[in-house]
Amino acid sequence: MIIRWQYSFMLALLIGFTVGCESQSNTAIRQQAQLEAEQTLKQAAADMEMAAAQVGQVAVAVMTPTAGNKTAGTVTFTQGADGIDVEATIRGLTPGDHAIHIHQFGDLRLDNGKGTGGHYNPQGHDHALPSTEMRHAGDLGNLTADADGNASYSITIDNVTLDGAHNPIIGRGVIIHAKVDDGGQPTGNAGARVSQGTIGYANPG
Ligand code: CU
Ligand code: ZN
Repeated sequence: MIIRWQYSFMLALLIGFTVGCESQSNTAIRQQAQLEAEQTLKQAAADMEMAAAQVGQVAVAVMTPTAGNKTAGTVTFTQGADGIDVEATIRGLTPGDHAIHIHQFGDLRLDNGKGTGGHYNPQGHDHALPSTEMRHAGDLGNLTADADGNASYSITIDNVTLDGAHNPIIGRGVIIHAKVDDGGQPTGNAGARVSQGTIGYANPG
């Protein structure tokens, strides 16, 4: 999405330069403008290469129980070509649905999970479930625990990046809640924070 936008922007810039120069007969100015446009395109190509190199990059949040709870596991974030694949493998839940969110801070110093602050919401949207495009960047919806308290959850999101310019999530927090996220305001009525983790770079080894 970002790559396509950058390319369109650079192309528009090139056309702008070319059209702008046609009205002038000064060859030197035209050549200079073309040179600048070429350099801009080269930079855009380099940027695209860099973005492409990030595909496959993985971040991980190791989830640990908050005080009085036993919910733990891992949440991975893998950069794909069209978004980030989120995979959560969690144990120690009560059976049923539980909210999972990216919260603003990766600060786990409080044992009630509240050091992570509120939902990650850099764009100032209202809270919502992932079926709604305009939502907090951190609104990941709900995972469902079986009778043994285990949950596996996958979702692909295109509203954040690992560490790009658009809503970067590295270093922020992940919270799993005691209750279901019902999509209500301001934060889905999801109750206590039963597990917390910080999103960090995964060791590729
Ligand atoms: Cu939350
Ligand atoms: Zn939210």
